[in-house]
Amino acid sequence: MRAGILGVGHYVPEQVMTNHAFEETLETSNEWILARTGIRERRIAGEDTDTSDLAAHASIEAIEHAGIGVEDIDMILVATGTADYDGFPSVACLVQEKIKARQVPALDVSAACAGFTYAMVVAKQFIETGTYRHVLVIGAEKVSKKLDWTDRNTAILFGDGAGAIIMGPVSEDKGILSFDLGADGTGAEQLFIKDYLRMNGREVYKFAVRQMPKSIHQVVEKAGLNLSEIDLFIPHQANSRIIEEAANKLGVTKDRFSMTLDRYANTCAATIPLSLKEEINSGRLKSGDVVVMVGFGAGLTWGSVAMIWGK
Ligand code: UT7
Repeated sequence: MRAGILGVGHYVPEQVMTNHAFEETLETSNEWILARTGIRERRIAGEDTDTSDLAAHASIEAIEHAGIGVEDIDMILVATGTADYDGFPSVACLVQEKIKARQVPALDVSAACAGFTYAMVVAKQFIETGTYRHVLVIGAEKVSKKLDWTDRNTAILFGDGAGAIIMGPVSEDKGILSFDLGADGTGAEQLFIKDYLRMNGREVYKFAVRQMPKSIHQVVEKAGLNLSEIDLFIPHQANSRIIEEAANKLGVTKDRFSMTLDRYANTCAATIPLSLKEEINSGRLKSGDVVVMVGFGAGLTWGSVAMIWGK
C-alpha cells in the first residue's frame, strides 16, 4: 500500500503588507528586499487570529478537496514553530476542536521549515502500516507574532499562512516514492525562537544552498529516478536566490521550481503546502506528474519527499 495526497487546502490572512511598509520604520527599501530575497509582500494575521485558526481554515478546504467528511480523519499532525501556546497544548488539539473532528490522536511536529516534510513522513508510516486511513497533515504559522519588528535582518523575511493535506492510501502507481530526512543539531544557534526569532542569515543561507541540492539528489536517487524525470520541485520558500542557486547546482532550469515567496514571503512550515495548492489551482500540477518537495530550516533540519501526483 502506498500513501499519497487525497486533497489540499490553503489559507492566508487578508491583510497584505508590502515591502514599502518597512521603509517607514527600518533602514531598508523595497528595492533591497526584492533584489536580495525575491519577496514583494506578505500576509499578516490580525490579533484575533492565531496559528490554529489559519490551520483550521486550510484543513476545511483540504477535507472538501479530498471529498471526505471530517469524521473520516484518523489523526491530526501540525508542523509549526509558532504554536498558539508556548509549550502546550498543541495546535493539533486546537484544530481538532475547531473543525469538530473526532477525538483522534493529535500532535505537533517540531522541525521548523522542514516540519511539513517531516510530518508527511510520519503520516506515511501510519498509513502504509494500515493503522490509519486518513491523516490530516498541516503546516501553519503565525510568524508575525514572533518577529522583532526593529530587526531588518529578519522582520522583512516572514509572513503568516497555512496549508493542509489529507493523506491516505492511493493506487500503486501514485503516492510517495521516497523520502530523505536529516538534522544537524550543531547548527541550533543559527536560527531560533526564544521570545523572538533570531537568525544568522548568512550561515542559514550557506546551509540551505548546500543541503537543498544534496537532499534532492538523495530523494531522487532513492526513488530510482533521474533529475530529468522530475516535473515539479516544490522547495521551501525562504529566498529566491537560494532556490536559484540550488537549481543551478542541480543543473535544472528554475522554471521547474515552484516560487510563491514574492506574494507570501517565508511562512516557515506552511510554504510547501501553500505552494502545492497554488500549483494545483493554476493547473500546473497534473495526475501522474513526479513532484519533489524539499524543506530546510532551524535545527538545522532538512526533509525531502518524492511522489507521483494523483490518487
Ligand atoms: O526558513 C529558513 C530561514 N531563512 C533563510 O533561509 C534565510 C537565509 N538568509 C537569507 O535569505 C539572506 O542571508 C538574507 C536575506 C537574510 C540577507 O541577505 P544577504 O544578501 O545574505 O545579505 P548579508 O547578510 O550579506 O548582508 C549584506 C548587507 C549587510 O550590510 P553590511 O554589513 O554589508 O554593511 C546587512 O546589514 O545588507 C544589510 N542588510 C540590509 N540592508 C537593507 C541586511 N538586511 C537588510 C535590509 N535592508 N532589510
